[in-house]
Amino acid sequence: MTILLLGSGGREHAFAWKMTQSPLCEKLFVAPGNAGTSAIATNVAMSPTDFDAIKAFVIQENVKMVVVGPEDPLVKGIYDYFKNDESLQHIPVIGPSKLGAQLEGSKEFAKEFLMKHNIPTAAYDSFTAETVENGCAFLETLQPPYVLKADGLAAGKGVLIIQDLEEAKTELRNMLVHEKFGAASSKVVIEEFLDGIELSCFVLTDGKSYKILPTAKDYKRIGEGDTGLNTGGMGAVSPVPYVDAVLMEKIETRIVKPTIEGFQKDGIEYKGFVFIGLINVKNEPIVIEYNVRMGDPETEVVVPRLESDLVELFLSVANQKLDTFELKVDPRSATTIMVVSGGYPEEFEKGKVITGLENIEDSIVFHAGTKLENDSIVSNGGRVLTVTSYGDDFQQAIKKSYQNIDKLSFDKMYFRKDIGFDLL
Ligand code: AMP
Ligand code: GLY
Repeated sequence: MTILLLGSGGREHAFAWKMTQSPLCEKLFVAPGNAGTSAIATNVAMSPTDFDAIKAFVIQENVKMVVVGPEDPLVKGIYDYFKNDESLQHIPVIGPSKLGAQLEGSKEFAKEFLMKHNIPTAAYDSFTAETVENGCAFLETLQPPYVLKADGLAAGKGVLIIQDLEEAKTELRNMLVHEKFGAASSKVVIEEFLDGIELSCFVLTDGKSYKILPTAKDYKRIGEGDTGLNTGGMGAVSPVPYVDAVLMEKIETRIVKPTIEGFQKDGIEYKGFVFIGLINVKNEPIVIEYNVRMGDPETEVVVPRLESDLVELFLSVANQKLDTFELKVDPRSATTIMVVSGGYPEEFEKGKVITGLENIEDSIVFHAGTKLENDSIVSNGGRVLTVTSYGDDFQQAIKKSYQNIDKLSFDKMYFRKDIGFDLL
């Protein structure tokens, strides 16, 4: 079959790498893709949110399935666009409906869903410009630090954690009244601070049943020791050694099951990934966010650990046959280390020629932000490449990734040297 994958990052390269190993995948297009995906599939210069262009392309190329990587097209309603179009409605889209995507598109929607279905989450209230003074009064009732979340999509920057009450009030006003994050912060959720260890749970659902995917942990901060600014993610490890069967059981019964049942009760069509962000407070998992896609770079360690055929898995989601799918997982550890442009997540330069890719041994390089230019592979984003390795344990896998990163080079290349430091 012919498949169209939307997106251009490391997550999409990892999906493409796995899907092209399937005998069911005769032709894979990636829109827009990167230099990595162009080596194994056909890139198409098309925006993942240009639904009319996607429609024309899907019909022209006789595409049989669309897999959506990033959240943007989902929040903008690509699932519904296909469902409501006579010429497209027979083509499955792997991803939730527009309503389901609100779990990531609106923090307030997510909080209301969590409360309604009795899923553990931090206490909260939400405010607008009209109720900003009530918001300041609410802050006074809380203990520091204060957690302020822009309601809408803010490219991962919309959450502020502030120690000082007066500063929290100022930032609340900046968000609501002075549009600090544009329209995304026209509403703000103020939340109780949870003190614990963060972890993520990845679920794939067909709307009726679900599969829990291997656990993974990412490293969000730019600096070693988890310091400095937040990034998209600087590395990841799967499985997460401290997630044991007891904790997983709690996550499944208290969080995953009620989430999928909540979709059914609320009439939310959902055939795709649910990425549940949790904080483990004294061994009690509490939800801090939903994402409606896979994590990046978590995908670059989760997908390599899937032994099952990914196209077959997606088809069982599309056909609502996930309950009979046997998910096979590689018992080895996988780790990935992200190589980024110097300056990221602030200003950085692009177009740097990358050398050494041909010398990689026993690791997989997924491209995150690259493109082909005059027969060279050049950097084309903040996150550039990520090096994934397997090992009997995560230490062994990490060692392999670092050995291979030493063979790579481009001007102002940077990576964290301590991925996995907290798991020892
Ligand atoms: P989010 O975009 O919701 O994942 O939030 C970004 C980061 O803020 C998370 O990865 C957590 O580190 C932190 N965070 C979010 N909500 C809370 C909370 N209620 N308590 C403590 N930390 C939080
Ligand atoms: N790595 C975190 C995310 O994809 O949101």
